[in-house]
Amino acid sequence: MLSQKTIEIIKSTVPVLEKHGTAITSRFYQLMFSNHPELLNIFNHANQKQGRQQTALANAVYAAAANIDQLETILPVVAQIAHKHRSLGIKPEHYPIVGKHLLLAIEDVLGDAATPEILDAWKQAYGVLADVFIKVEAEMYQQAAEQTGGWKDFRNFVVAKKVKESEVITSFYLKPADGGPIAEYAPGQYISVKINGAGDEFTHIRQYSLSDAPGKDYYRISVKREDAIGDKPAGKVSAYLHQQVQEGDILPISVPAGDFVLNMEKTVPVVLISGGVGLTPMVSMLNTLVEKQPNRPVTFIHAAINSKFHAMKEHVSRLETKYLQVQSYVCYEKPTAEDVRNESFDKEGYIDLPWLKSILTSKEADFYFCGPTPFMKAVYRALQEWGVPENSIHFEFFGPKGDLVDA
Ligand code: HEM
Repeated sequence: MLSQKTIEIIKSTVPVLEKHGTAITSRFYQLMFSNHPELLNIFNHANQKQGRQQTALANAVYAAAANIDQLETILPVVAQIAHKHRSLGIKPEHYPIVGKHLLLAIEDVLGDAATPEILDAWKQAYGVLADVFIKVEAEMYQQAAEQTGGWKDFRNFVVAKKVKESEVITSFYLKPADGGPIAEYAPGQYISVKINGAGDEFTHIRQYSLSDAPGKDYYRISVKREDAIGDKPAGKVSAYLHQQVQEGDILPISVPAGDFVLNMEKTVPVVLISGGVGLTPMVSMLNTLVEKQPNRPVTFIHAAINSKFHAMKEHVSRLETKYLQVQSYVCYEKPTAEDVRNESFDKEGYIDLPWLKSILTSKEADFYFCGPTPFMKAVYRALQEWGVPENSIHFEFFGPKGDLVDA
């Protein structure tokens, strides 16, 4: 239990942290990686370079600090982060390492302003927070290992099939190398894939949404090749998967995780909206809906640059023809001349509220969406403007969570 005094110190220093938050977390990573380079096997180097992880961690720490006397209010956020941590293989012994370097960084950046009293308060607060994470994650590890077909940490899977879905997206069908059963998952969840590219000093771990319905003898991920754009380098892991990994190769993966999942206790219509490779969890949800909830109306809306970048087009059209419950719409940002000739899209440009209103009979539905951040912001704003209640809006970011509202 934290004393009232400690709580007061924490709360009064939150604004200071907010001011220096990113400087502190940047310094923290610098110090931690120089003392523990082995942690570079777990952290995403690209997110580090772009400062995304610094911001995600800083935000989580402020949120926790501001609510240190009522931690239950941040439990949903803890659960979402804990899913990611469990999927990556973060363990209790990692927490003191992070705590030690976070305090060193606070001391470094704040200088004389970091009095022993303040440092002690933050040490205690971090301890409380770490205990919450460790407990939630312990339950997740146990559940992952004990469920039918489950396992601990990473398990080797064979690439049974590699299928090109579009110019930039390729699907990988993964079966366990030991031939055993595989854990169930909820549509919307992801797996972590670990790679160890030839000549690379560190392993790299990335999360990919599962893109087929559960209940098969394989997991399927559909990966976008992230090409270099401007000063942003090409995606290391996606390039490796596309170019190096072949059928028959082995990939270590962890048990499916994530709290962005289709709620199948409800029967209200579902609207699945995706941008680019954000369609992967949506196709998993769509495939599940036609198998498991055949009476539930589902509208599948997909935005892509044009037909060249439009993955799983035939699959979705097939489902629309076969199942009366399915309606699908396509929005192309820059249709090709052939797209125009074939009338292969329903809207040109971007998804907006007037168009959504014109194709959806009602806003009484559960909305799920996933895609690049500008797309997410536009969809979120449109749904809010329409008056869709918050508890009917569900979304998933690629990589560290961003902010849909302010940024
Ligand atoms: C991801 C917070 C402890 C390793 C994250 C994210 C947050 C976060 C907010 C982003 C989640 C997302 O992308 O959805 C925290 C907090 C911690 C903590 C508040 C302490 C109380 C740790 C520890 C480790 C760790 C002890 C291991 C050394 C990671 C890694 C990622 C991550 C590797 C993914 C980063 C990436 O892919 O760039 N954490 N974390 N975290 N965390 Fe933690």
